[in-house]
Amino acid sequence: MAGKGVITPPRDRADLVERLKETQRRYGHVPEEAIAELAESLAIPVHEVYGVASFYSFLSLKPLGRNVIRVCKSLPCYLKSAEVIMKAVEKELGIVPGETTADGRFSFELINCIGLCDHAPAMLINHDAHVDLTPQKIKQILKSYE
Ligand code: FES
Repeated sequence: MAGKGVITPPRDRADLVERLKETQRRYGHVPEEAIAELAESLAIPVHEVYGVASFYSFLSLKPLGRNVIRVCKSLPCYLKSAEVIMKAVEKELGIVPGETTADGRFSFELINCIGLCDHAPAMLINHDAHVDLTPQKIKQILKSYE
């Protein structure tokens, strides 16, 4: 507890997102143990680290598949039938947003605008952008990922 005249070390929140991203790259997700370690090393309460890790859609608290599909759910894509695209992904893979296929090939997430609104509906698979989507395109695109 900081008393009068006691200087507490600054909390390094600026570094937190970068360290979480690094953890995600290393393990494919942010494990619970990593949250506790980051909290201790950066002198940030565990619940704050958890809050940041669960806030960003590019971070995941659970293990993901080899390929991560992120379909945009923001309004411009929604108005261009993003829901039809989501249903097409669900139908092709047999999973709903937040799930991973049993073989670990795909995880399916929804994401906010990825800046490709001019070509809505849009999605990312890993770092690849796919635009002007149709259900027919979904089938072809998914086939190209092992
Ligand atoms: S709203 Fe979907 S890419 Fe912008």
